[in-house]
Amino acid sequence: MGSGFLGYPPSTLMLDVVVSALVLVVPILLFSLYLVKVRKNYTVHRNVQLLLAVVLLIAVVLFEIDIRLHGGWEKIVDQPAGRLTPERMATIRQTLYVHLVFAFSTPVLWGATIAGALRRFANPPVPAPHSGVHKVLGWASVIDLTLTSVTGLVFYYFAFVVK
Ligand code: HEM
Repeated sequence: MGSGFLGYPPSTLMLDVVVSALVLVVPILLFSLYLVKVRKNYTVHRNVQLLLAVVLLIAVVLFEIDIRLHGGWEKIVDQPAGRLTPERMATIRQTLYVHLVFAFSTPVLWGATIAGALRRFANPPVPAPHSGVHKVLGWASVIDLTLTSVTGLVFYYFAFVVK
């Protein structure tokens, strides 16, 4: 317990890895959008998105295993047992539930965006009839992922940073 590297025990190593990834995701997304809108470099845009998806998928799977191995999120957060009042636990639980709305919808939207793009754009990718659908799915994914990141950080803040 408390093997995190950000200096907020009782956070774990994988919780800190995922929280750091959540911070990094937003600038990487902005870079990917810059590649499309300014540089019109669709191939690098595709590669950045695919790399981001694979790295996040691996991090989240390891994170879920880590949480289970530590006996669940409530046990990690309330360490040593009884550290947090029931009211504080309730607040943290609420922030987690809000986070989960975005954390569950993001992989679905993102997966649909990637699957559609890989199927319907040429290789190397260039604007095509699929562009209209892709722009809508793409922006929805960007917003959803950003909200996943922000709400994940809010959860971490209430669970570990606030004393
Ligand atoms: C979930 C992953 C992805 C997201 C979030 C995403 C996001 C976006 C967004 C928001 C735009 C529109 C920019 C604008 O408003 O002009 C865009 C454009 C584009 N993306 Fe993606 N993208 C993703 C994956 C991919 C993949 C995997 C490919 C290629 C196989 C691809 C190819 C393109 C192309 C060709 C355009 C230009 C469309 C046009 O302007 O006509 N994208 N992307």
